[in-house]
Amino acid sequence: MNDLCAVILAAGQGTRMRSKLPKVVHPVAGLPMIAYVVEACRPFLAKRTLVIVGYQADRVREALAGEAVEFVSQLNQQGTAHALLQAQEALVGFDGDLLVVSGDTPLLTSATLDSLLRAHREAGALATVLTAEVAEPTGYGRIVRSTTGELLRIVEELEATPQERQLHEINAGVYCFSARALFDALQTIRPSAVKGELYLPDAIALLRNRDGGVQACQALDPDEVRGVNTRTELAEIHRLLWRKAALQLLTEGVTLLDPERTYVGPSVRIGSDSILYPNVTLEGQTVIGDGTTIHSGCRIRNATVGDGTVILDGCIIQESQIGDGCQVGPYAHLRPHTQLRQRAKVGNFVEVKKSVVGEGSKVPHLTYIGDTNIGERVNIGAGTITCNYDGATKHQTVIEDDVFVGSNASLVAPVSVGRGAIIAAGSTITKDVPADALAFGRARQINKTGFAATFRSKRQKE
Ligand code: UD1
Ligand code: MG
Repeated sequence: MNDLCAVILAAGQGTRMRSKLPKVVHPVAGLPMIAYVVEACRPFLAKRTLVIVGYQADRVREALAGEAVEFVSQLNQQGTAHALLQAQEALVGFDGDLLVVSGDTPLLTSATLDSLLRAHREAGALATVLTAEVAEPTGYGRIVRSTTGELLRIVEELEATPQERQLHEINAGVYCFSARALFDALQTIRPSAVKGELYLPDAIALLRNRDGGVQACQALDPDEVRGVNTRTELAEIHRLLWRKAALQLLTEGVTLLDPERTYVGPSVRIGSDSILYPNVTLEGQTVIGDGTTIHSGCRIRNATVGDGTVILDGCIIQESQIGDGCQVGPYAHLRPHTQLRQRAKVGNFVEVKKSVVGEGSKVPHLTYIGDTNIGERVNIGAGTITCNYDGATKHQTVIEDDVFVGSNASLVAPVSVGRGAIIAAGSTITKDVPADALAFGRARQINKTGFAATFRSKRQKE
């Protein structure tokens, strides 16, 4: 596949989105739209992939940080053919095929790109365009064929005659070109009469009569080639993505109480016998084990959850690892780099950040745990706070195995509590506690017998 380069068109603003963000970085199920396109192209990234950037180029570069792609600038966005012309210099001497993909087609799959490429090479064509028969063609370029079915040209919606608008075969905006033939043709493309832009689809009519000719390759699933130009189309893409993921999960043995209200991203994996309640959002590279239940209103991103764990309503979990048989929530917030070991429990209104909660340990209510290492079988009382921040730096707390922390304790870091120690409720702990010690960090209580009654009767007389 050495004689193949990919070009992704991503320089446009996306005016119809009415957004400050460039269209191709709008999030789709939590990832930038263009990331999906790059993913589809991944098997073909062998040689070089050029991404044409222009409007807010930095945002697009940022969205693709770490990807093995090269960026080419299109300073003024004068149309899709003009975008491709910007890549000519970078591709000087390249004589192979170009796979050209729009950055706004997030449902495209590698399998479809593969069939396009095969069709192109089998026919020895100069250009092969991916098309689809769709029920609602409005907004797309239409495929114009001869009476014998030969591909003649592509006409944009704005320039189409009323008859042409009746055509339901659309241009997906995805093509294979012989690079040399394409760059030749691009020299002769004229600006469109209506928009004044240089249209890449016009290359089809120009290459048609040359040796090799042009052809269309129809996508099997018309939903795959949907482009996103408006918020309505973006909403539709989400609906299709969620639906596809939900149907897949059902076949894999996951119970969804309401598949229409389950929001699972395409890279998420869930084991069998797990149950998702309505309004659960799972994003990024999240992996959920077998027999785990996630209740309503949870959002989990880039996290791993083990087997037989229960996550109660309203939890937010990010970049964290949760073991087997754990219980989380309701309303817990697990921030990045949290690890709950087997059978750990993090309960109501608890926030945990960059901390380990050891096997069988419990943090059941109203607590903040940050930069802390909690051992096994520890119990953290309600309202406990690790004071990890002194206004300048973060400090560590260590709580060893079998410690019992009474309610409403403040552990001022850096501090460590030795194995088996007990912290009295309401303590402020500023010094390390030795193993098996009982630590009091509060004023002693004084009871003044009868004092309250005397106080009340005095007040009444006044
Ligand atoms: C384009 C096709 C249309 C096709 C549709 C499929 C043209 C003229 N029309 O229309 O036939 O049915 O895609 O979705 O190509 N871009 C640039 N530089 C530019 C203009 C656009 O890089 O100067 C990029 C955009 O960022 C976008 C892609 O090219 O990712 C397509 O542009 P867009 O404006 O969405 O074209 P459509 O109107 O959808
Ligand atoms: Mg588009």
